[in-house]
Amino acid sequence: MEKKRGSFSGGLGFVLAAAGSAVGLGNLWRFPYLAAQYGGGIFILVYIILALTFGFALLTTEIAIGRKTGSSHILAYGKLDKRFGFLGYLAAIVPVIILPYYSVIGGWIIKYVTIFVTGTQAEVANNSYFGSFIGDTFSPLFFFMIFLGLTMLIVIGGVEKSIEKISKILMPILLVLMVGVSIYVLTLPGSMEGVKFYLLPDFSKFSLITVCAAMGQLFYSLSIAMGIMITYGSYTHKDMNLSRSVVHIEIFDTIVALFAGFMVIPAVYMFNGEAGTTASGPGLMFQSLPSVFNQMAGGRIIGLAFFILVALAALTSSVSVMEAIVSSIMDKLKISRGKACAIVVIVSLALGIPSSLGNGVWSNITILGMDFLTFFDYLSNYVIMPIVALLTCILIGWFVGTKVIKDEVTRNGEKFRRQAVLDVMIKYIAPVLLLIILIFYSLVQFGLISM
Ligand code: PHE
Repeated sequence: MEKKRGSFSGGLGFVLAAAGSAVGLGNLWRFPYLAAQYGGGIFILVYIILALTFGFALLTTEIAIGRKTGSSHILAYGKLDKRFGFLGYLAAIVPVIILPYYSVIGGWIIKYVTIFVTGTQAEVANNSYFGSFIGDTFSPLFFFMIFLGLTMLIVIGGVEKSIEKISKILMPILLVLMVGVSIYVLTLPGSMEGVKFYLLPDFSKFSLITVCAAMGQLFYSLSIAMGIMITYGSYTHKDMNLSRSVVHIEIFDTIVALFAGFMVIPAVYMFNGEAGTTASGPGLMFQSLPSVFNQMAGGRIIGLAFFILVALAALTSSVSVMEAIVSSIMDKLKISRGKACAIVVIVSLALGIPSSLGNGVWSNITILGMDFLTFFDYLSNYVIMPIVALLTCILIGWFVGTKVIKDEVTRNGEKFRRQAVLDVMIKYIAPVLLLIILIFYSLVQFGLISM
């Protein structure tokens, strides 16, 4: 018997769930240090321009594909054009690779929440703490499984009853925590220097690399090219105003990224100077910030609020990744949600355990010189996702035509103001930009240029 597909109850539920997916570690962790590294205001400006054009076009296209075909990515591409059926399978690989390592990082965040709950943050402020925690064998695995388990509990409850409901509760909490932490940080004496550093453009740090970094970030931040937005789009009602929803998701995602900068940059700048702000990778979130919270008056409460908000953001993102996999399994194999979840959890354990152990006992095992977690991250974000997005543009721009997207967006007679932008983007500009991302990150990876 074919199961009825899930659906969101309305536009708000969809927007909050999609924003829940988009708002994640990319906004809270990656955006601030990229902004600090690539010239503050100028990076922010480039990012916003790209969001309104490139990001908008890809996001609209994916949601429209989902709603038009009523399928998750695995079948959706093939329904538009049989010759592109393979693209569904390629896109389907991405969330399978991302979920395990994202859950490992989610586990680290839960661990940090427990640290601020128990008041042992002084210990974490020590620079060697983080490395020794993730290098441990059992503790990170334990928190990884908790995070994965929480994700599964939400996904197993279904689209409307669980994912939508939880997003409607968690996303407003996230916003409130974020505004609270930002206000607190901005009222600390000396924070304005940090704000200036964050917002004032530094043109000496501007180059083509700034643009590539902004583009890569945008792409990741909007959860594009991983099947998620197609899947969520397939759960929307035909009468929802699609272009308005896209605008709301974009605004939500961009505002959280900008606010994340206000929470993180001034605080770190005040205590650790400019060098602290560009500590990329785990250093910023798991070392610099805890040490800042430790030195700050009221730091325990602020640190707790901060890590809870990061945990919520990570959880709603991982829910969307798991849902994308579960949905494609259900579409393809016509099995129940519970069985699909079980399969996903088993595969995620199989890939997540090496991702976690790769920081410790298995650190001598590497792929192309990377530990498992770094390799999975590289493979999904810098190789498969740009290829999926590029082929999506080619499919829509050159095979089925952007009219398909326009018809879907305007099916209830809505206005589609940025249609010309979408046309030009999907046909010409986005493919070129995506090719640049692909080439650029390969050159970085193989050490031919440095970021
Ligand atoms: N959009 C997410 C973010 O900004 C990225 C992401 C979503 C990653 C879903 C994995 C899964 O963090």
